[in-house]
Amino acid sequence: MNESNWSSLSAGLPQWLEHARSETSLGKVASYIPELSKADPSSLGLHIRTVDGRSLSAGTCGDRFTMQSISKVFTLILALMDNGEDVVFSKVGMEPTGDSFNSMLKLELVQPGIPFNPLINAGAIVISSLIGGSSNEEKVTRIQSFIGKLAGREPLQIDEQTYRSECQTGHLNRSMAYFLTDNGVLKGKVEDVLEVYFKHCSLLVDCADLARMALVLSLDGLDPDTGERLIPRRFVQIAKTFMVTCGMYNGSGEFAIDVGLPAKSGVSGGIMALLPGQAGIGIIGPSLNRHGNSVAGVHLLKHLSKEFDWSLF
Ligand code: DON
Repeated sequence: MNESNWSSLSAGLPQWLEHARSETSLGKVASYIPELSKADPSSLGLHIRTVDGRSLSAGTCGDRFTMQSISKVFTLILALMDNGEDVVFSKVGMEPTGDSFNSMLKLELVQPGIPFNPLINAGAIVISSLIGGSSNEEKVTRIQSFIGKLAGREPLQIDEQTYRSECQTGHLNRSMAYFLTDNGVLKGKVEDVLEVYFKHCSLLVDCADLARMALVLSLDGLDPDTGERLIPRRFVQIAKTFMVTCGMYNGSGEFAIDVGLPAKSGVSGGIMALLPGQAGIGIIGPSLNRHGNSVAGVHLLKHLSKEFDWSLF
């Protein structure tokens, strides 16, 4: 990002963020995982970090929140690193669904009955079953360290209350997992796979963590501080493509038109977005639109993308 754009961004961000905050009243905090309903609906924060080491925060971004579906990008990458493309894509597809993130509709309608992509819940549950490790504990620890390395502080902690809250109420995910077992797609004990899945959804991060993870992806897998290769380039390419086509669920098409950046949302209100080769962005805004994406977060990104001509398209 050039000097003049950076100065305009630094000067304008606080007021653009306050303007976007008014959008929070148009959405709702997720309540189907009871613990998430405690979040402040009017909260909004953004952190951006550039390849040349500059960073900027606005709003409420020091607090930690659970990654939820944002973690799916990284479990996909880890599963690819553990198993390779052929194994992973024999069990999950590469296509957007147009349905909500927890829909199981197409699992029965389309043959073979594998989830359409790794970012919907059914797909991410299958991905959880592909994480390497000789015990559940080892699998979860590997995810915590891997994502922690990308955030620049390992290992990330699990929010036990959110984990337990989802474990007790995740009946839809449980039913999908049994369905996938019956289809022969999911191997291993359902409760073990779900423990890995619910735990990676409950990893705690803040906006700066998300921005750094996004920055690694924007650098095609290189650590922004050391230059070390953390992820093979091909797997970053796959992850970024899924972020564009499915990262904002059935709001991905509209988001691609309005913002035009690879991004991934989670039901806690987080959004991770990236400007390829330039910067990583982390946002939290727990009030969600009908697709399950942060309503004010999307609004703010839309504004910034227009102002600075960020769209890739
Ligand atoms: O499985 C679930 O429903 C949550 N743990 C994650 C869903 C999610 O974040 C979808 N995001 N928009």
